[in-house]
Amino acid sequence: MYKPFEIANNIYYVGVNDRTKHLFESMWPLPHGVSYNSYIVDDEKVALIDTVDICYSDVFFKKLVSVLGDKKIDYLVVNHMEPDHSGSIELLVSRYPDIQIVGSKRSVEMLKGYYGITRNLIQMEDLQELALGNNTLQFFMTPMVHWPETMMTYVKEKKIVFSGDAFGTFGTIDGGVLDTQLRTEKYRDEMIRYYSNIVGKFGSPVQTALKKMSGVEIEIICSTHGPVWTKDGDADEVIKLYDKLSKYESDSGLVIAYGSMYGHTEELAETIACAAAESGLKDIVMHNVAKSHVSDIIRDVFKYKGLIIGSPTYNNKLYPEVESLVSSLQNRSVKNRVFGCFGGFTWSDASAKNLLAFANDMEFELIADPVVIKQGMLNDVQEAAQSLGEKMAEKLLLVRTEVVDA
Ligand SMILES: Cc1cc2nc3c(=O)[nH]c(=O)nc-3n(C[C@H](O)[C@H](O)[C@H](O)COP(=O)(O)O)c2cc1C
Ligand SMILES: [Fe+2]
Ligand SMILES: [Fe+2]
Repeated sequence: MYKPFEIANNIYYVGVNDRTKHLFESMWPLPHGVSYNSYIVDDEKVALIDTVDICYSDVFFKKLVSVLGDKKIDYLVVNHMEPDHSGSIELLVSRYPDIQIVGSKRSVEMLKGYYGITRNLIQMEDLQELALGNNTLQFFMTPMVHWPETMMTYVKEKKIVFSGDAFGTFGTIDGGVLDTQLRTEKYRDEMIRYYSNIVGKFGSPVQTALKKMSGVEIEIICSTHGPVWTKDGDADEVIKLYDKLSKYESDSGLVIAYGSMYGHTEELAETIACAAAESGLKDIVMHNVAKSHVSDIIRDVFKYKGLIIGSPTYNNKLYPEVESLVSSLQNRSVKNRVFGCFGGFTWSDASAKNLLAFANDMEFELIADPVVIKQGMLNDVQEAAQSLGEKMAEKLLLVRTEVVDA
């Protein structure tokens, strides 16, 4: 029997924990699982906010019944149509055939496209309201956070926002639902990994949404993944984090990501890292692209201002995993990074050329010329690698001093 959790007077959490799935979107590892959050506003009219992944519909329906008994649900509010939230809609409609589905124009179209639902649909315009009795829902269109149809739903009387994927994180809700019931530090890296990989491409729409919501007083943020954020807990902090990440602002650490088949490129990576450390930089994260999951590398690139990428030349191109990383960063339009690169070849170099083209495309600040090794390590290459590490460290430490002084 699932015990309903009441977030505020007559507002309940009815989401589910997924500790089974290995890969979110069949791509992103879930070492700590993920939750799909759904909420009930139990008023004269009952509104359900979003559903859950179809794999957990049985748990979900048990939770609905634990709150409502045999009371009917008047409205389903669809903030986001991605199937991790819309997956149980068809089953919901078969159980509650009179339910009216409320969403943006694009959601109404997608409900037809995904599930063939054409009746009992209510299309909401930006800022339109829906009275439930003691509570009034107001809808804020927030396109591209994370799909074009996304909106947020605000309970005016309670100052609660149902924010969709915004402010979401990987990681299940283990026991407590509210941030004040949990040790939330454990979610911070997973929140950045979630943001950077899933929403990271949409920095500008996230900024637009944040500006739009900045005029709204918010006490509680109910997102679709992870804990509920409260004013007494981390709400202000997660808003600040989203603001920072969506502006592509970062801390003054360094990510060194490299591929290496026979260790030559890796030797350069180690040399650069040691030189940066000797220059006083402590926040250095190294990733062998063949072993680290790309989502962890992307997370760290979003966290840190310095980025150095290394690759051997492979069939006249970049090493495949480096090429994949570079393309993932391009896809997310990462901005404002200080960049360096290194590479190797045996007969004709393609690594430096490709990495420079990448830096140029991203408008990164190039800290030094590429360090390129032909076959074995020579003294001048060793020196150039050391110099790259030192220059990068000096720059990042200067950035840190500027931030502290500001
Ligand atoms: C499958 C394969 C393809 C390669 N393709 C090229 C190439 O197109 N041009 C080139 O100059 N070197 C090429 N190389 C040589 C590597 O770039 C060179 O051995 C480099 O030192 C490898 O760096 P690593 O020791 O970090 O793996 C290739 C090596 C392998 C194993
Ligand atoms: Fe989504
Ligand atoms: Fe989601």
